[in-house]
Amino acid sequence: MIIKSAEFVCSNTRIDKLPPPTIPEYAFIGRSNVGKSSLINALTQHKGLAKTSQTPGKTQLINHFLVNKEWFLVDLPGYGYAKTSKTNRSEWEKFIKKYLFNRENLQCVFVLIDSRLTPQKNDLDFCCLLGEKGIPFILIFTKADKQSKIKSEHNIELFRKALLTWFEEVPPHILTSSETRNGCDEVLGLIDEVNQR
Ligand code: GTP
Ligand code: MG
Repeated sequence: MIIKSAEFVCSNTRIDKLPPPTIPEYAFIGRSNVGKSSLINALTQHKGLAKTSQTPGKTQLINHFLVNKEWFLVDLPGYGYAKTSKTNRSEWEKFIKKYLFNRENLQCVFVLIDSRLTPQKNDLDFCCLLGEKGIPFILIFTKADKQSKIKSEHNIELFRKALLTWFEEVPPHILTSSETRNGCDEVLGLIDEVNQR
């Protein structure tokens, strides 16, 4: 898919204020600092479109970006940020669940996982939540440039095996790097495929 345009639409904390659900939407979620905002910038080849930071917890709102004037990319706040208070965490959960379970134009959720880590409980729990609710998702393993492909593939295999404890079939996965843009065309290809349905 060729990206002709990508523009910021709005930031929201309230799901009743989101843009009208009239075009396909794809959401990016995962632990704080996993690289959600960076991947959105790499996919669209627009540096600075989504705000990134070395400090976890940068993205706090639901951010909508309109791509090719045809579909939305959504940058969500991350989970598992240690400095967040318990109250904030349960607020986050309520708010994200409300979004995920009610957004009628949401086609698919991209769950981002750091390829350098062995399976983490909060990532597995989040995948299970999506599975329970029947929300389609794809696994994106990020920061592939930071280590050898063998190590990434090993962690991917461990993650898929862990998911097989709960799932009969594990969703597709893509190994990406926002630095090199590896895997980005694959992600865009998947989005294109769903858009054409
Ligand atoms: P929150 O908004 O806090 O939830 O974080 P996020 O998931 O949006 O992460 P963000 O994109 O802000 O990236 C966090 C840090 O990781 C930044 O310093 C990025 O430059 C770095 N980073 C993200 N993706 C990659 C990647 O593919 N390769 C490398 N080397 N660094 C990356
Ligand atoms: Mg972010």
